[in-house]
Amino acid sequence: MRVIEYVTYIMISMTNLHTPVLLNQVLEILDPQVGQKYLDATAGLGGHAQAILERTQSPQEAVLVDQDATAIAVLEEKFPQATVVQTDFASAAQSLLDEGRQFDLILMDLGVSSPQLDRAERGFSFRYEGPLDMRMDQTAELSADQVVNTYTQVELERILYEFGEEPRARAVAAAIVAARPLRTTQELAAVVRRAAFRPKEIDAATKTFQAIRLAVNNELDTLAQTVPLMVELLVPGGKLVIISFHSLEDRIVKLYFDRETKSCICPPKQPICTCEHQPTLEKITRKPLVADASEIAFNPRARSAKLRAVEKINKNKRRDS
Ligand SMILES: C[S@@+](CC[C@H](N)C(=O)[O-])C[C@H]1O[C@@H](n2cnc3c(N)ncnc32)[C@H](O)[C@@H]1O
Repeated sequence: MRVIEYVTYIMISMTNLHTPVLLNQVLEILDPQVGQKYLDATAGLGGHAQAILERTQSPQEAVLVDQDATAIAVLEEKFPQATVVQTDFASAAQSLLDEGRQFDLILMDLGVSSPQLDRAERGFSFRYEGPLDMRMDQTAELSADQVVNTYTQVELERILYEFGEEPRARAVAAAIVAARPLRTTQELAAVVRRAAFRPKEIDAATKTFQAIRLAVNNELDTLAQTVPLMVELLVPGGKLVIISFHSLEDRIVKLYFDRETKSCICPPKQPICTCEHQPTLEKITRKPLVADASEIAFNPRARSAKLRAVEKINKNKRRDS
């Protein structure tokens, strides 16, 4: 096999390694129609995108974004007619706004893909021995190695507490600092397990790995900055679906959707409304949708997925009706 064929073979086989979560619910809510413009902010290996573009039949109108070079190679191969962009979704959204682009359907399926988690050399998982990396964008400067080996104990404690909700953040941060240098995922996991809170149902290293990953990729700040931009990118009547995988992400999405669907955002005890806030969104999902038992049995990653969806208010339609 020539190198190019081998690379293509690896890329195509990788596309089957990530099962899109809550796919039926995404399709039901977005209800893609022929000719609609689709923005996938976290296109990954294109599982959701493929199902959606089969329905819109307009890949030339689609923009597929991911910050991971491996995902981009797969997307370019799979969707030659679409615009595939390698960047973080905050920058992508700002550029698209600057270009005056608008979309009917937008999806953000947050977090990491299965190949990112399952490839030891990416350093995301304590199940495999790998370098302390955890960068979604392989060219980013900050890696888990720097966080683990150069951050102060106080900074580490804050990260573990805020992003990992680790009750023993202080003890874990102290243990990490005492054990430096730590170079691999399993070295880190072993140190953390000795110091961390030990919940019955998950590995004691889980919260620390989540916290460091969120810090390395600046995931929460980027999400909070991007959700309003995604709403701006919607045409009136356009739909935004966001799938999150832990409570901190979901909280950011929930609070923004709650605020933007209300006609008053004054403090609850204020007797008269003075805010003149205008809702920009209508909720499609009152409560977050979650995977059912059969999906979780088939795809355990779906266990923690929460889907929230909104539609941008079409002000003209409201006045007429
Ligand atoms: C759960 S996967 C998406 C899977 C995809 N929906 C599919 O069906 O194949 C999340 C993807 O989002 C990407 N990602 C996460 N945060 C990002 C960000 N801030 N900017 C761009 N891509 C991001 C990750 O690199 C990963 O490939």
